[in-house]
Amino acid sequence: MTHILLCMSGLFLLSAVICGNAEELGVKATVTADRLTIPTGGSVTLTCVAQHFADLEYYWIRETSSENKSLISTGAVISISEGGNYTCRGWRRDTNSLLTESDSVTIQETVSNRTDVKLQHSWSQIFTGETITLRCEIQGGEGKVWKYEWTAPNTNSPPTSSEYRISRVSVSHSGDYRCRGSSDYLLTGWSDAFRLTVSSSKPRATLTAQSSVIPAGGSVTLSCSVEGSAGWKFDWFRRDSEFSVPQKIEAGTSEHTISISEGGIYYCRGGRGDPVFSTEDSSDVTVKEAISGFGCERSSFIVPFIIGLVSGIIVVLLLMCCYRKIKKPCCNSLTQSQSTNQSSASQQTANQNKTQVYSSLLHGETRNYYFSLYYSF
Ligand SMILES: *[C@@H]1O[C@H](CO)[C@@H](O)[C@H](O)[C@H]1NC(C)=O
Ligand SMILES: *[C@@H]1O[C@H](CO)[C@@H](O)[C@H](O)[C@H]1NC(C)=O
Ligand SMILES: *[C@@H]1O[C@H](CO)[C@@H](O)[C@H](O)[C@H]1NC(C)=O
Repeated sequence: MTHILLCMSGLFLLSAVICGNAEELGVKATVTADRLTIPTGGSVTLTCVAQHFADLEYYWIRETSSENKSLISTGAVISISEGGNYTCRGWRRDTNSLLTESDSVTIQETVSNRTDVKLQHSWSQIFTGETITLRCEIQGGEGKVWKYEWTAPNTNSPPTSSEYRISRVSVSHSGDYRCRGSSDYLLTGWSDAFRLTVSSSKPRATLTAQSSVIPAGGSVTLSCSVEGSAGWKFDWFRRDSEFSVPQKIEAGTSEHTISISEGGIYYCRGGRGDPVFSTEDSSDVTVKEAISGFGCERSSFIVPFIIGLVSGIIVVLLLMCCYRKIKKPCCNSLTQSQSTNQSSASQQTANQNKTQVYSSLLHGETRNYYFSLYYSF
């Protein structure tokens, strides 16, 4: 726009300098720059050299886009503080002719916009084997197309995009990461270093149970954690006994606790990232279910048990005591009768016969009874 406006302006000389057809020119002028990047708040010196030409007037054109060309200064040596593509042209005033032109030189300008390297997830600790992404962020740089440069330990080919993805990091990836962006003639400063520390250990999940006994009809809370680090999701496993196959009861919960109402052996595992990186399994935690009616009233169960036991012992002792008291007079009468019986042999034999009859009757009866049982079937 400026280009067209300048070309249409009444200033014949300036418009001729800017709009003159450079392709018709023969020997080119050369531009040298003391440096190609303007530091923040600094400047760059450009020098135009056109040999073989005498009495030239120099003009400079700054181009920041194909539509934005502007005449910025005169003189063979200029000091500039803005980035852009610079071209010098040599003008012969007495003949009103454009005699020479240089190739354009791109001078970058350092912008003060803050640039940072950030970890995609704010994980405080990174473990060997995880996949991570670092991001280069240019504050206020949205809406511009940037190219990125990275400095990183242990690599010859850092990416040129804003994201730096490292699959399966190892301890050797530890170190300082910096980035900067460039867009046309703009260049950001290097970011502060982001120090990546990759831990060589494999993380382990820790499972804790609020209580080891689930009250009848109630539940117990299990907590899973990974020490010193965040961003984990948790998988929960349960098995009936040491020898049964574990079942995944909950998968990928962001909550680090679950509530259980079933006894068993539990363990958990953390996972994060894409692809998912898993921690070691936690140790087993056994949670028992209280047996309804007993376990929940354990103390009130012991009291009647003890009362029952004690009263049982007392009853047994009383019975033994009574038995002895009953037995003693009986034994005395028996020995008395025996001694009296010994005096008369006839009575003794009669008594013996009596017992024999009794025993034979008893045994015979029993036998007959069994026989009759056999025959009846
Ligand atoms: C500046 O010069 C570079 C290199 O010749 C070129 O790629 C770029 O398109 C130019 N930019 C403008 C705005 O003309
Ligand atoms: C051309 O450049 C000037 C100053 O460098 C700027 O103010 C203006 O917005 C630019 N115009 C276009 C169309 O890029
Ligand atoms: C720098 O940031 C400001 C806002 O803070 C923004 O307006 C400007 O476009 C940014 N510069 C670049 C080169 O992105």
